[in-house]
Amino acid sequence: MKQIFVIGSINVDILMVSKKLPKIGETIKVDNFYIYPGGKGANQAVASSRNGSKTSLIGKIGNDYFGDFITTYLKKENIQSQIKYGNKTGTALINTETSGKNMISVFAGANSELNINDLKNVEISDSIVLFQQEIPLKTIEDEIRILKNGHNIIITDPSPVTEINEYILKNSDYITPNETEAAKLSGIKIKSIGDARRASEILYEKYGNNIIIKLGERGSIINVSNNIEYFKPYKIIPVDTTGAGDCFNGAFASHLLSTGNVRESVEFANISAAISTTGYGAFPSFPYLNEVLEKFKNR
Ligand code: RIB
Repeated sequence: MKQIFVIGSINVDILMVSKKLPKIGETIKVDNFYIYPGGKGANQAVASSRNGSKTSLIGKIGNDYFGDFITTYLKKENIQSQIKYGNKTGTALINTETSGKNMISVFAGANSELNINDLKNVEISDSIVLFQQEIPLKTIEDEIRILKNGHNIIITDPSPVTEINEYILKNSDYITPNETEAAKLSGIKIKSIGDARRASEILYEKYGNNIIIKLGERGSIINVSNNIEYFKPYKIIPVDTTGAGDCFNGAFASHLLSTGNVRESVEFANISAAISTTGYGAFPSFPYLNEVLEKFKNR
Protein backbone atom coordinates (compact mmCIF):
# COMPACT_ATOMS: atom_id res chain seq x y z
CA MET A 1 0.00 0.00 0.00
CA LYS A 2 1.36 3.38 -1.05
CA GLN A 3 -0.20 6.06 1.09
CA ILE A 4 -3.21 7.51 2.97
CA PHE A 5 -5.93 9.61 1.33
CA VAL A 6 -8.43 11.50 3.48
CA ILE A 7 -11.56 12.78 1.77
CA GLY A 8 -13.47 14.90 4.24
CA SER A 9 -14.32 18.04 6.10
CA ILE A 10 -12.19 21.03 6.95
CA ASN A 11 -13.50 23.39 9.64
CA VAL A 12 -12.50 26.19 11.93
CA ASP A 13 -13.29 25.33 15.55
CA ILE A 14 -14.33 27.97 18.06
CA LEU A 15 -13.67 26.47 21.45
CA MET A 16 -15.17 27.67 24.76
CA VAL A 17 -13.67 26.12 27.89
CA SER A 18 -15.69 26.07 31.13
CA LYS A 19 -15.83 24.08 34.36
CA LYS A 20 -19.31 22.78 33.44
CA LEU A 21 -21.11 22.68 30.11
CA PRO A 22 -24.06 25.10 29.85
CA LYS A 23 -27.56 23.66 30.27
CA ILE A 24 -30.33 24.55 27.80
CA GLY A 25 -31.40 28.16 28.39
CA GLU A 26 -28.41 28.89 30.64
CA THR A 27 -25.77 31.58 30.08
CA ILE A 28 -22.43 30.80 31.66
CA LYS A 29 -19.08 32.52 31.97
CA VAL A 30 -16.28 30.53 30.37
CA ASP A 31 -12.65 30.39 31.51
CA ASN A 32 -11.04 30.61 28.09
CA PHE A 33 -11.66 30.50 24.37
CA TYR A 34 -9.58 29.55 21.36
CA ILE A 35 -9.95 29.54 17.59
CA TYR A 36 -8.35 26.44 16.09
CA PRO A 37 -8.24 24.53 12.81
CA GLY A 38 -10.30 21.33 12.79
CA GLY A 39 -12.90 19.32 10.90
CA LYS A 40 -12.93 15.54 11.03
CA GLY A 41 -11.24 15.17 7.62
CA ALA A 42 -8.42 17.64 8.33
CA ASN A 43 -7.94 16.15 11.80
CA GLN A 44 -7.59 12.60 10.47
CA ALA A 45 -5.16 13.75 7.76
CA VAL A 46 -2.96 15.56 10.29
CA ALA A 47 -2.99 12.54 12.61
CA SER A 48 -1.96 10.25 9.76
CA SER A 49 0.82 12.57 8.64
CA ARG A 50 2.16 13.29 12.13
CA ASN A 51 2.24 9.54 12.76
CA GLY A 52 4.57 9.14 9.82
CA SER A 53 2.53 8.38 6.67
CA LYS A 54 2.49 10.02 3.27
CA THR A 55 -0.94 11.69 3.36
CA SER A 56 -3.22 13.58 0.97
CA LEU A 57 -6.29 15.56 2.07
CA ILE A 58 -9.11 16.44 -0.32
CA GLY A 59 -11.75 18.86 0.95
CA LYS A 60 -13.58 22.13 0.38
CA ILE A 61 -13.38 25.48 2.17
CA GLY A 62 -14.70 29.00 1.56
CA ASN A 63 -12.77 31.80 -0.08
CA ASP A 64 -12.99 33.75 3.17
CA TYR A 65 -11.19 34.74 6.36
CA PHE A 66 -11.61 31.32 8.01
CA GLY A 67 -10.49 29.62 4.78
CA ASP A 68 -7.22 31.61 4.87
CA PHE A 69 -6.85 30.85 8.58
CA ILE A 70 -7.06 27.10 8.09
CA THR A 71 -4.86 26.92 4.99
CA THR A 72 -2.12 28.69 6.93
CA TYR A 73 -2.21 25.87 9.51
CA LEU A 74 -2.46 23.08 6.93
CA LYS A 75 0.58 24.38 5.04
CA LYS A 76 2.68 23.75 8.15
CA GLU A 77 1.76 20.04 8.06
CA ASN A 78 3.45 17.57 5.73
CA ILE A 79 0.23 16.92 3.78
CA GLN A 80 -0.49 17.09 0.07
CA SER A 81 -3.71 19.09 0.30
CA GLN A 82 -6.04 19.31 -2.67
CA ILE A 83 -8.32 22.06 -1.50
CA LYS A 84 -11.38 23.09 -3.53
CA TYR A 85 -13.26 26.34 -2.98
CA GLY A 86 -16.98 26.70 -2.28
CA ASN A 87 -19.22 28.86 -0.11
CA LYS A 88 -18.37 29.66 3.52
CA THR A 89 -15.73 27.67 5.40
CA GLY A 90 -17.25 25.07 7.74
CA THR A 91 -17.30 26.21 11.35
CA ALA A 92 -17.76 24.29 14.59
CA LEU A 93 -18.77 25.80 17.92
CA ILE A 94 -17.38 23.60 20.67
CA ASN A 95 -18.22 23.89 24.36
CA THR A 96 -15.82 21.84 26.41
CA GLU A 97 -15.69 21.37 30.17
CA THR A 98 -12.51 20.80 32.13
CA SER A 99 -13.46 17.13 32.78
CA GLY A 100 -13.00 16.60 29.02
CA LYS A 101 -16.71 16.33 28.02
CA ASN A 102 -17.85 18.45 25.07
CA MET A 103 -20.81 19.53 22.91
CA ILE A 104 -20.30 20.46 19.24
CA SER A 105 -22.53 22.34 16.75
CA VAL A 106 -21.23 22.36 13.18
CA PHE A 107 -22.09 24.62 10.25
CA ALA A 108 -21.04 22.47 7.26
CA GLY A 109 -20.63 25.35 4.78
CA ALA A 110 -18.38 24.41 1.84
CA ASN A 111 -17.99 20.85 3.15
CA SER A 112 -21.60 20.22 2.12
CA GLU A 113 -20.71 21.16 -1.47
CA LEU A 114 -17.91 18.63 -1.99
CA ASN A 115 -19.20 16.51 -4.88
CA ILE A 116 -17.93 13.68 -7.04
CA ASN A 117 -16.73 16.12 -9.75
CA ASP A 118 -14.34 17.61 -7.20
CA LEU A 119 -12.72 14.18 -6.93
CA LYS A 120 -12.49 13.32 -10.61
CA ASN A 121 -8.81 14.26 -11.02
CA VAL A 122 -7.76 12.50 -7.86
CA GLU A 123 -6.21 9.14 -8.73
CA ILE A 124 -6.30 6.67 -5.89
CA SER A 125 -5.10 3.08 -5.98
CA ASP A 126 -3.30 0.72 -3.64
CA SER A 127 -3.97 3.10 -0.75
CA ILE A 128 -5.86 3.45 2.52
CA VAL A 129 -8.77 5.89 2.13
CA LEU A 130 -10.43 7.57 5.12
CA PHE A 131 -13.96 9.00 5.15
CA GLN A 132 -16.07 10.64 7.84
CA GLN A 133 -19.64 11.89 7.53
CA GLU A 134 -19.25 15.70 7.41
CA ILE A 135 -19.39 15.76 3.60
CA PRO A 136 -22.39 14.59 1.54
CA LEU A 137 -22.92 10.85 1.89
CA LYS A 138 -23.80 10.68 -1.83
CA THR A 139 -20.24 11.87 -2.63
CA ILE A 140 -18.77 9.19 -0.36
CA GLU A 141 -20.99 6.51 -1.90
CA ASP A 142 -20.08 7.53 -5.47
CA GLU A 143 -16.37 7.62 -4.61
CA ILE A 144 -16.47 4.21 -2.90
CA ARG A 145 -18.00 2.74 -6.08
CA ILE A 146 -14.89 4.01 -7.94
CA LEU A 147 -12.41 3.01 -5.22
CA LYS A 148 -13.72 -0.55 -5.18
CA ASN A 149 -12.07 -1.04 -8.60
CA GLY A 150 -8.62 -0.17 -7.23
CA HIS A 151 -6.72 -2.08 -4.58
CA ASN A 152 -7.76 0.14 -1.67
CA ILE A 153 -8.67 -0.26 2.00
CA ILE A 154 -11.63 1.95 2.97
CA ILE A 155 -12.03 3.13 6.56
CA THR A 156 -15.28 4.97 7.30
CA ASP A 157 -15.89 6.85 10.50
CA PRO A 158 -19.72 7.09 10.66
CA SER A 159 -19.43 10.40 12.48
CA PRO A 160 -21.67 12.28 12.86
CA VAL A 161 -24.33 9.63 12.44
CA THR A 162 -27.13 12.02 11.49
CA GLU A 163 -27.82 9.93 8.37
CA ILE A 164 -27.22 6.24 7.68
CA ASN A 165 -26.11 5.07 4.23
CA GLU A 166 -26.19 1.28 4.02
CA TYR A 167 -24.06 1.16 0.85
CA ILE A 168 -21.21 3.05 2.54
CA LEU A 169 -21.33 0.93 5.67
CA LYS A 170 -21.47 -2.37 3.75
CA ASN A 171 -18.68 -1.41 1.36
CA SER A 172 -16.14 -0.09 3.84
CA ASP A 173 -13.41 -2.45 5.03
CA TYR A 174 -13.51 -0.92 8.50
CA ILE A 175 -16.18 1.11 10.27
CA THR A 176 -15.10 2.97 13.38
CA PRO A 177 -18.05 4.37 15.38
CA ASN A 178 -17.74 5.78 18.88
CA GLU A 179 -20.15 4.42 21.46
CA THR A 180 -22.98 6.87 20.62
CA GLU A 181 -22.68 6.07 16.93
CA ALA A 182 -22.38 2.33 17.57
CA ALA A 183 -25.54 2.50 19.71
CA LYS A 184 -27.44 4.26 16.92
CA LEU A 185 -26.22 1.85 14.22
CA SER A 186 -26.73 -1.33 16.26
CA GLY A 187 -29.92 -0.32 18.08
CA ILE A 188 -28.58 -1.22 21.53
CA LYS A 189 -27.67 1.08 24.41
CA ILE A 190 -23.97 0.89 25.29
CA LYS A 191 -23.41 1.19 29.03
CA SER A 192 -20.73 -1.46 29.52
CA ILE A 193 -17.91 -3.16 27.66
CA GLY A 194 -20.26 -6.15 27.33
CA ASP A 195 -22.82 -3.94 25.51
CA ALA A 196 -20.07 -2.73 23.18
CA ARG A 197 -19.11 -6.35 22.40
CA ARG A 198 -22.73 -7.13 21.56
CA ALA A 199 -22.97 -3.98 19.40
CA SER A 200 -19.84 -5.09 17.52
CA GLU A 201 -21.47 -8.48 16.85
CA ILE A 202 -24.64 -6.83 15.54
CA LEU A 203 -22.64 -4.46 13.31
CA TYR A 204 -20.51 -7.34 12.04
CA GLU A 205 -23.65 -9.36 11.19
CA LYS A 206 -25.26 -6.33 9.53
CA TYR A 207 -22.35 -5.00 7.52
CA GLY A 208 -19.89 -7.92 7.28
CA ASN A 209 -16.79 -5.78 7.69
CA ASN A 210 -14.29 -5.08 10.45
CA ILE A 211 -15.71 -3.06 13.33
CA ILE A 212 -13.75 -0.83 15.71
CA ILE A 213 -15.80 0.78 18.49
CA LYS A 214 -13.99 3.71 20.09
CA LEU A 215 -14.94 3.88 23.76
CA GLY A 216 -12.84 6.91 24.72
CA GLU A 217 -11.64 6.66 28.32
CA ARG A 218 -12.81 3.00 28.37
CA GLY A 219 -10.56 1.88 25.47
CA SER A 220 -11.84 0.12 22.36
CA ILE A 221 -13.47 -3.05 21.09
CA ILE A 222 -12.59 -4.60 17.76
CA ASN A 223 -14.46 -7.23 15.82
CA VAL A 224 -12.23 -8.45 13.02
CA SER A 225 -13.56 -11.38 10.97
CA ASN A 226 -15.97 -12.14 13.84
CA ASN A 227 -13.19 -12.29 16.46
CA ILE A 228 -13.87 -9.79 19.21
CA GLU A 229 -11.15 -8.27 21.35
CA TYR A 230 -11.17 -5.56 24.01
CA PHE A 231 -8.28 -3.09 24.36
CA LYS A 232 -7.74 -1.17 27.59
CA PRO A 233 -7.38 2.62 27.32
CA TYR A 234 -4.01 4.29 27.61
CA LYS A 235 -4.41 6.12 30.93
CA ILE A 236 -3.87 9.85 30.83
CA ILE A 237 -5.53 12.91 32.39
CA PRO A 238 -7.53 14.67 29.64
CA VAL A 239 -8.12 18.41 29.35
CA ASP A 240 -9.98 18.44 26.02
CA THR A 241 -11.19 15.41 24.06
CA THR A 242 -12.04 17.34 20.86
CA GLY A 243 -10.79 15.39 17.84
CA ALA A 244 -9.55 12.39 19.87
CA GLY A 245 -11.64 10.02 17.74
CA ASP A 246 -10.18 11.59 14.59
CA CYS A 247 -6.67 11.25 15.98
CA PHE A 248 -7.43 7.56 16.61
CA ASN A 249 -8.49 7.01 12.98
CA GLY A 250 -5.52 8.84 11.44
CA ALA A 251 -3.06 7.05 13.71
CA PHE A 252 -4.74 3.66 13.16
CA ALA A 253 -4.59 4.07 9.36
CA SER A 254 -1.00 5.27 9.49
CA HIS A 255 0.20 2.33 11.59
CA LEU A 256 -1.83 -0.12 9.49
CA LEU A 257 -0.17 1.26 6.37
CA SER A 258 3.31 0.70 7.76
CA THR A 259 2.73 -2.64 9.55
CA GLY A 260 -0.45 -4.28 8.22
CA ASN A 261 -1.08 -5.35 11.83
CA VAL A 262 -4.63 -4.46 12.99
CA ARG A 263 -4.24 -5.29 16.70
CA GLU A 264 -1.01 -3.33 16.99
CA SER A 265 -2.54 -0.44 15.06
CA VAL A 266 -5.44 -0.25 17.53
CA GLU A 267 -3.02 -0.12 20.48
CA PHE A 268 -0.94 2.53 18.69
CA ALA A 269 -4.08 4.57 17.91
CA ASN A 270 -5.32 4.33 21.53
CA ILE A 271 -2.03 5.90 22.68
CA SER A 272 -2.01 8.61 20.01
CA ALA A 273 -5.64 9.56 20.76
CA ALA A 274 -5.00 9.60 24.52
CA ILE A 275 -2.05 11.97 24.11
CA SER A 276 -4.20 14.25 21.93
CA THR A 277 -6.54 14.88 24.88
CA THR A 278 -3.79 16.46 26.97
CA GLY A 279 -3.92 19.72 24.98
CA TYR A 280 -6.70 22.01 23.75
CA GLY A 281 -8.16 21.95 20.24
CA ALA A 282 -8.31 19.18 17.67
CA PHE A 283 -5.24 18.74 15.47
CA PRO A 284 -2.97 21.27 17.22
CA SER A 285 -2.86 18.81 20.15
CA PHE A 286 -2.09 15.69 18.08
CA PRO A 287 1.25 13.99 18.83
CA TYR A 288 4.10 13.16 16.44
CA LEU A 289 5.36 9.65 15.71
CA ASN A 290 8.36 9.62 18.09
CA GLU A 291 6.23 10.51 21.13
CA VAL A 292 3.65 7.83 20.31
CA LEU A 293 6.32 5.22 19.54
CA GLU A 294 8.10 5.85 22.82
CA LYS A 295 4.90 5.26 24.81
CA PHE A 296 3.98 2.34 22.54
CA LYS A 297 7.29 0.58 23.25
CA ASN A 298 6.92 1.12 27.01
CA ARG A 299 3.22 0.16 27.18
O1 RIB B 1 -14.23 15.47 15.69
C1 RIB B 1 -13.92 16.77 16.08
C2 RIB B 1 -14.28 17.73 15.00
O2 RIB B 1 -15.68 17.72 14.85
C3 RIB B 1 -13.92 19.17 15.31
O3 RIB B 1 -12.62 19.52 14.87
C4 RIB B 1 -15.03 19.95 14.64
O4 RIB B 1 -14.60 20.68 13.53
C5 RIB B 1 -16.08 18.92 14.25
O5 RIB B 1 -16.09 18.70 12.92
